[in-house]
Amino acid sequence: MLIYAGSASKYFGLKLARLLGVEYVNTETRKFPDGELYIRFDKEPRGETAVLVQSMYRTPNDYLIEYLFISKTLKELGAREVIGVIPYFPYARQDTRFKPGEVVSLSVVLELLEKMGTDRVVTVDMHLHRVEDIGEISKIPFTNLSVMEEIGRYFRDKIRKEKTIVVGPDEEAKQWARIVADVLQVPFTVLEKIRLGDTEVEIKAREEELIEGMDVLIVDDIISTGGTIEAAVKRVKERGANRVFVACAHAILAANAEYRVFHEGVEELVASDTIPSPYSVVSAIPVVAKYLSKM
Ligand code: R5P
Repeated sequence: MLIYAGSASKYFGLKLARLLGVEYVNTETRKFPDGELYIRFDKEPRGETAVLVQSMYRTPNDYLIEYLFISKTLKELGAREVIGVIPYFPYARQDTRFKPGEVVSLSVVLELLEKMGTDRVVTVDMHLHRVEDIGEISKIPFTNLSVMEEIGRYFRDKIRKEKTIVVGPDEEAKQWARIVADVLQVPFTVLEKIRLGDTEVEIKAREEELIEGMDVLIVDDIISTGGTIEAAVKRVKERGANRVFVACAHAILAANAEYRVFHEGVEELVASDTIPSPYSVVSAIPVVAKYLSKM
């Protein structure tokens, strides 16, 4: 097995190779003055399984194109199999045609991966909502790992068990809130979210009596604009929450998200390293390494 990484995930790739005890192949990626890509690997993958690591955050289109160039070339150069490790998988939220005429981006991305030589995909806490089993729409095997148990373990020594509740900002977040709550052995609940636009949401508390006087750990998969977390923090504070912590798998942190997360008085934001950020104190790399080592 050889590990390759696109420019989004060099550290992830290097650390993954070290944990697996396999070779990391350096890949040079740069842009020509006109913006076109130049890519070259130090070693060709002839006959080997090639693992290609590329998280697709913040500039997903650039990282996707780079990934496709590398995946296709690894296959052309004799890789026995190309395993795409995509710690943050983009476009997962556009998994259906909400309005007539819309592009279903997720199925386009999946088809591109398959057509460009990827044989299987491994990702982390992908936003699966309407599509519960990605295998239903992906022609190639697809594994969705989770870093939520690691997030739970991170908070073990930080919380007062009898005084803490895990809160998901919406129904979709139930799956992640449940895992974190199970690890911490505390209760969980979810709020109700109505999306008003790309950056604004309205959040209502459901079982509000559970929140009063408690420390609250809000758990979601993605923080993008921060609108969801901002509204959730506001709501749980209005409902009498004591200290508020926030955790997510993927800290995209677009635009003014950090302000929106912190300005209502959040104690700490914890994220995984699927997307590098100052809050990436939990690692998804051992989770991916464990899975690949068993394959
Ligand atoms: C969608 O429902 C996701 O689970 C997240 O809640 C959402 O993507 C967060 O986006 P934003 O930070 O822009 O509110």
